[in-house]
Amino acid sequence: MYKLFFQLVFTRMDPEQAHHLAFRWIRLAARIPVLRTFAAAALAPRHEELRTEAFGLRMHGPFGLAAGFDKNAVAIDGMAMLGFDHIEIGTVTGEPQPGNPKKRLFRLVADRALINRMGFNNEGSAAVARRLAARTPVFRTVVGVNIGKTKAVPEAEAVGDYVKSTERLAAHADYLVVNVSSPNTPGLRDLQATEALRPLLTAVREAADRTVPGRRVPLLVKIAPDLADEDIDAVADLAVELGLDGIIATNTTIAREGLGLASPPSLTKETGGLSGAPLKERSLAVLSRLYARVGDRITLVGVGGIESAEDAWQRILAGATLVQGYSAFVYEGPFYARAIHKGLAARLAASPYATLADAVGARTRKAAQ
Ligand SMILES: Cc1cc2nc3c(=O)[nH]c(=O)nc-3n(C[C@H](O)[C@H](O)[C@H](O)COP(=O)(O)O)c2cc1C
Repeated sequence: MYKLFFQLVFTRMDPEQAHHLAFRWIRLAARIPVLRTFAAAALAPRHEELRTEAFGLRMHGPFGLAAGFDKNAVAIDGMAMLGFDHIEIGTVTGEPQPGNPKKRLFRLVADRALINRMGFNNEGSAAVARRLAARTPVFRTVVGVNIGKTKAVPEAEAVGDYVKSTERLAAHADYLVVNVSSPNTPGLRDLQATEALRPLLTAVREAADRTVPGRRVPLLVKIAPDLADEDIDAVADLAVELGLDGIIATNTTIAREGLGLASPPSLTKETGGLSGAPLKERSLAVLSRLYARVGDRITLVGVGGIESAEDAWQRILAGATLVQGYSAFVYEGPFYARAIHKGLAARLAASPYATLADAVGARTRKAAQ
């Protein structure tokens, strides 16, 4: 049904307009009590065995919405209604900014992929903090806040920009993510180098502790799939050293070669980050490498090309405690999160593992023996 609608309506629209239209419908549905109660009852995870704990937070299930879909925290209840059990809002930058000129989002339907160069279009940390502070949640869901650098702020002043966002947003975040991996802000990914990342993460940690003295807000870092293996290891070691709570792997890729693209070159040559099915293999490889390095010392979040319950299960076996998706939601529609939670429950039941936590990293551990 959704796939037919997608083909007939959404593919004829500009992808960003289609996003805004779908987004409006989700927000509208979430405002109608009968509709949202009915939808949440049908779509939200209900499987006792999928209950998950990650960095001290309890969740109904491991699958959530990746950053970038709800940049300004306007549809948290709508996305929870659709069965995403944690919602990562943002990326939010210190100052508001319009993002890159349109057109900046491209659908590669034949590849079940997207290319985007949105460039952190968002209302800025002050506005998003006000919205989160004023929010009366309908559904109990975990809200992560993903922060990034304002484009106009020079790289030398990046730490100050992240600290500003932290001071405004930490109190409203169940967990905080330092995003240093989007390809669409010039120089951002250079912050993944440990010499730059160490002072940045240290300053954000201190700012979160200073502004929210009564609670230790979990702090994660989100990395790119384009890092060389030794750089992945370096980030992993730094995360352990600094006592970080988690690593999110991965953001979109700037790579195009070898990803089996079936779409026309007119699309694949667009500048920006590639997400969806072609990212699957690399994101899984990065996650497995991270788990082999950090084991259970740091919580890992797997994202990139997760289209099905099987994909999510493979990430859990590789080492992910939480999994997230974005691009496949565009192609799969409103039953996407439900299908993943339902399929995960079936896979867990058929597996030798008593709990989901037992399954985390099982394959990577076995490979290392
Ligand atoms: C249109 C679009 C916008 C995105 N914006 C952000 C963002 O603002 N911050 C971020 O950390 N990741 C962003 N992402 C990356 C996703 O969170 C995710 O890491 C990536 O798309 C891989 O997952 P997927 O294959 O399930 O889409 C964006 C992705 C897309 C497609």
